Amino acid sequence: MDYKVRFVAPGKVYRMIKEELDAAYSEVMTKGDLIDRGQLKRFEENLAAFVGTKYAVGLNSGYDALHLSLRAAGIGPGDEVIVPAHTFVASASAIVNVGAKPVLVDVGRDFNIDCDKIEEAISQRTRGIMPVHLNGYMADMARVMEIAAKYDLVVVEDACQSLGSRMQGKKAGSWGLTGCWSFYPFKILGGYGDGGAITTNDPEVALFATRMRYNGEDRQTGEYHGHGFTCLLDNLQAAFLDVKLRHLPAWIERRREIAAHYRAGLADLADLRLPHYDDPSRDHVYQNYVVRAKQGNDFSDYLKANGVEVLTQFRKPYYRHEALKLEDRGFPETESLSREVCSLPMNVEITDQEVDYVIAGVRRFYGK
Ligand SMILES: Cc1ncc(COP(=O)(O)O)c(C=O)c1O
Repeated sequence: MDYKVRFVAPGKVYRMIKEELDAAYSEVMTKGDLIDRGQLKRFEENLAAFVGTKYAVGLNSGYDALHLSLRAAGIGPGDEVIVPAHTFVASASAIVNVGAKPVLVDVGRDFNIDCDKIEEAISQRTRGIMPVHLNGYMADMARVMEIAAKYDLVVVEDACQSLGSRMQGKKAGSWGLTGCWSFYPFKILGGYGDGGAITTNDPEVALFATRMRYNGEDRQTGEYHGHGFTCLLDNLQAAFLDVKLRHLPAWIERRREIAAHYRAGLADLADLRLPHYDDPSRDHVYQNYVVRAKQGNDFSDYLKANGVEVLTQFRKPYYRHEALKLEDRGFPETESLSREVCSLPMNVEITDQEVDYVIAGVRRFYGK
């Protein structure tokens, strides 16, 4: 398909900041700084400062961040962890892969965990809650932390989609025991390959993750502190991410501008629900601009056929994939939004003309 508007255009971002990225590449290659060097440390310091935590530990992926966080919290066989029914599968897989059981909870209209339904999912075995801040908008962390304190539960924030978003002025990834980040290329802060990180205020957790990402080894002493993993963030990726992190505040503003542009062009369409919410204590960074169209696939197929690349994550909820063997406790909101979701192009490289093209396509679909 020859799209007029691509969902993302990574080559365009490269051209926008080519000089800085090339300089970062050149520094790494010239010095031969490949594994666990200054660029990684610098990026970790800058990421921690951005999120507002004491530590950041660079890892290979968002999945690794979730996985190591659960291990750091001592969660394992016999334990249950609460997780939303509408999220990327990695949230639940990390729980399963430490030997624990994910207990799914339905989401609300903002695509995030429905806090009114958390307590009914808590059992004697519940050890943790993994709220997911989906699409760039935080879950109600004030409520999540309150419930966690009441039942003495660990909170691991899956913040992979919400770098920079805030609730009550406090950033995503700075509320729970850890915040977990993904730098998958299409994320708001995307690398040129996989990448991830944990942010935390807990020195023990930071030390645990720093050792476990490097096969359990303390690099100062050579002592192995446990059977670990190979999941360190590449130095080269860290150097690129550090360049992009400098642009992030301006890029978030640009995403908000695009969201406002979509809103102005689409708000009158009765069959379309837009991702704008009333809560003044939370702000949106628009990792994704996910609309809900009553016409489901007819809507998304029409846009694709008319030159607009859109995503429909996730038409099939992850708990409906048989091989995952997850319990479907009945999630009406997840079921209904799964039929309707459609992510419109949202990225810093898109032009206003391209946004207008998307808006015109949507309006045409609705006969406007
Ligand atoms: C909500 C969420 N959780 C977890 C992940 C996993 O991150 P990664 O792909 O870096 O392992 C992602 C991203 O893909 C995500 O969007």
